[in-house]
Amino acid sequence: MPTNPENQDSAARYDALNEWDLSDDFYLDLVLSADAVLDVGCGTGVLLGAARAAGHTGRLVGLDPDPDALDRARRRDDVDWVAGDLGGVTFDGEFDLVLMTGHVFQVFLTDDEARAQFTAVRRALRPGGRYAFETRNPGARAWERWIPENGVDIVGERGEPVRVEHRVASVEDGLVRLSETASSPDWPAPRVDWATLRFTTAEQVDALLAERGFEVVERCGWWDRTPLTATSREVITIARPGPLPATDRR
Ligand SMILES: C[S@@+](CC[C@H](N)C(=O)[O-])C[C@H]1O[C@@H](n2cnc3c(N)ncnc32)[C@H](O)[C@@H]1O
Repeated sequence: MPTNPENQDSAARYDALNEWDLSDDFYLDLVLSADAVLDVGCGTGVLLGAARAAGHTGRLVGLDPDPDALDRARRRDDVDWVAGDLGGVTFDGEFDLVLMTGHVFQVFLTDDEARAQFTAVRRALRPGGRYAFETRNPGARAWERWIPENGVDIVGERGEPVRVEHRVASVEDGLVRLSETASSPDWPAPRVDWATLRFTTAEQVDALLAERGFEVVERCGWWDRTPLTATSREVITIARPGPLPATDRR
């Protein structure tokens, strides 16, 4: 599908803003230890591309509803890139590892949306498979640092200087509404993207996982595997499907 150059810029900007970091090292280790891997919300595909480049020989599937992000991912043709979300595909007992990295989990704004994801992840996993994801810990109040003063300067797709700033419009019931403004003296006008992110505690995550029969096998608060505390920046979870609760055998 033809894409809008502004949206392609936004996918490129995502990569410029999110350079390889400790979280990628953490997830790359997991990918390299699994045979068949599904990355839900793979975005521009950096993680699976790196896994292939590092010698992963098994099945790698990246799933994302954003055509512009996937266009960028498709610069590598040795990974399966699938357009869509877990609601629109039926993966059935196919993967040893399902991932949601880069805080994808926070785009699911209600308990019902999270439950639907967990149900689909469970279905996609082989018996004994693992599900790894993270969400920002509400105790660390990340939204308080999303202010223009913490903006960053990057280089745009055509070599132009670009300033990226975040602003929070509202924080209510665990939902943070924010904007990202990218501006450059070389552009006619700034580009503004809006998003809403849900912040859930580890206890909320665990209750939802348990409803879908997942057992948490590892929990950390940072990528060096530091245990979670009340103010850790991340709630990092690795879970395995166990028996379904008696009330929910479906
Ligand atoms: C912050 S990006 C993270 C991308 C990548 N996982 C990373 O770590 O860089 C969030 C991604 O989630 C995708 N996304 C949004 N809604 C989704 C959904 N319902 N299912 C799967 N992915 C979704 C977006 O298109 C976007 O690429």
